[in-house]
Amino acid sequence: MAHDGLFITLEGVDGCGKTTQADMLVEELEASGREVVRMRDPGGTRLSEKIRLLLLDPANDDMCDECELLLYEAARAQLVKEVIQPALKRGSAVVCDRFFDSTYAYQAVARGISGNVVQTANELGCCGVVPDATLVFDISPQEALLRATSQGADRLESEGTLFQERVREGYAELAKRYPERIRIIDASGTKEVVRARMLGALRELLS
Ligand code: TMP
Repeated sequence: MAHDGLFITLEGVDGCGKTTQADMLVEELEASGREVVRMRDPGGTRLSEKIRLLLLDPANDDMCDECELLLYEAARAQLVKEVIQPALKRGSAVVCDRFFDSTYAYQAVARGISGNVVQTANELGCCGVVPDATLVFDISPQEALLRATSQGADRLESEGTLFQERVREGYAELAKRYPERIRIIDASGTKEVVRARMLGALRELLS
């Protein structure tokens, strides 16, 4: 999809600190005078937030992998059509906490659904919208899970450290496959240190 906006996505294992970094990135972009739309995937619209609740509710432990994949894609398609596409067409910057790379890392690599199937599903779910830049906040799952579960684990967080290890491998694989778009950011250290790494990685795009 052709547009004048800027689409940045933030990724990583659960508890990697990307939500805090997204807040700081939004501040940075707003300070430069841009209109910024901050979103999360799954979520961000009335329907997508309802789907998010279904996906993350620990009571839904009977959900099969295919149902999970399709619900993530359904939530994303609605978010893209209702919010992201219009914002990019207006020339806004869109900062999104997760997007289709999560689906590859979680549903293909960690759950084990065929990578080709997930890529095809991702093509449908993203409705032709691809991020200009994707930052993967990389941290050991042990350290990250401590942060993620400090407020009670959701359905995905409850999968444990081995699952998150596979998610991390999934992101490493994606970063090798799309070196132009995806940057791995070392997410260890204080939030200020990680912020500096993030802004360093985006310097060219933001200048
Ligand atoms: P969040 O807590 O970072 O908002 O993400 C919600 C959870 O959903 C998180 O555990 C990652 C997972 N997820 C997937 O499994 N597949 C996806 O496509 C997306 C977007 C998120």
